[in-house]
Amino acid sequence: MSSCPFHAPAGETTAPSAAPPLPLPGDAALDLDAELAFLREAHRGVLPAVRRAELASALAAGSPAPLSSAELTWAGRIAWRNHARCIGRLHWRSLVVEDCRDLSSAADLADRLREHLRVVQESGTVKSILTVFAPPSRRGGPGPRIWNPQLCGYAGYRQTDGSVLGDPANERLTAFACRLGWRPPRQPGAFDLLPWIISGPDGKPHLIPLADGAVREVRLRHPRLSWFEELGLRWYAVPIISGMRFRAAGTDFTAAPFNGWYMGTEIGARNLADPHRYHQLPRIAERLGLDTSTPRSLWKDRALLELNEAVLHSYAAEGVKLVDHHTASDEFMRFLAREKNLGREVSARWDWIVPPMSGAATAVFHTPLREFPSTPDFHAQPSPFDASAPQGCPNQKESSRS
Ligand code: ARG
Repeated sequence: MSSCPFHAPAGETTAPSAAPPLPLPGDAALDLDAELAFLREAHRGVLPAVRRAELASALAAGSPAPLSSAELTWAGRIAWRNHARCIGRLHWRSLVVEDCRDLSSAADLADRLREHLRVVQESGTVKSILTVFAPPSRRGGPGPRIWNPQLCGYAGYRQTDGSVLGDPANERLTAFACRLGWRPPRQPGAFDLLPWIISGPDGKPHLIPLADGAVREVRLRHPRLSWFEELGLRWYAVPIISGMRFRAAGTDFTAAPFNGWYMGTEIGARNLADPHRYHQLPRIAERLGLDTSTPRSLWKDRALLELNEAVLHSYAAEGVKLVDHHTASDEFMRFLAREKNLGREVSARWDWIVPPMSGAATAVFHTPLREFPSTPDFHAQPSPFDASAPQGCPNQKESSRS
């Protein structure tokens, strides 16, 4: 059965309903066969019995699986291939995995993260990298964490009138950084880059300031609307997800940041457009002279179109790789076909795969998709801010698309 409300078989309810929570692999009892199955691909189709026994006994003793660096690379690539929310998976084999499992202190993480950031930004071609740090120690304790959901992000400042200057998604992180001693610019703005907050195995958060110029950004311009630049909109070049855990071979890596490249609509139809984010559509519609008194003028749709054209144009003009949603959809269809040929079923969430603009104009909209648990994979993990919240409490970020 499809998880998509629009592809439910006849007779079933067509009302959108929340997807049932997926059991996290290995959390209750470790399913060794499932956890180690991916290793076959790392060993040309067979998992040597000796290797299986070594890994199994380490896991039974409560240690992280002693994967070789080559095996870890396969785990990272297959985790990307398995990740149900990603439309960009055609490229899973290109992932570069940096094995930093010997690093766990905040200072060491910060050094490697600067390197990750530098490398993926330096040429605009954006190669995909996963940097894997030490897992939690077997004696218990939290494991290293990067408290920022992404390595790049803009501050969100709550104003006295209740509105937020900047990115409302980062309001809590911004307030916490201030409590740790971060000083926002004298004149706070809508696009102030946030410092990092990182904890090592003691769980204690450290504020790590970022050097000026460390984050590459793209100012948004429109190919035909000369006033567009005056809106002062911009976004950073590369999304580097830093808050998720990487699950591989029965081991949870709590700090394992990875990046891809942007699809334009993530910025133009969500980050800058969502009413609970930068909410720019009314402003753009006004500059376009549209009638905003009625939805029937399609002012939102026209504003969205111009904003998204500006995103595609500006990244291309600066030589930063970014894919449009039509190409991304076509690539995902090729990925589905390739996987089918290889006899592998693809786990995917329709509501995440379908682009947030012109959905039905992309082939993925017309394709039933189904999500099922896979391992290795990347998973949401409770933010360290919520460490005191009861386990398993419904986490908004888990179910909503971001
Ligand atoms: N949607 C997130 C953002 O807009 C990024 C998620 C990862 N995206 C990607 N293209 N790899 O920042």
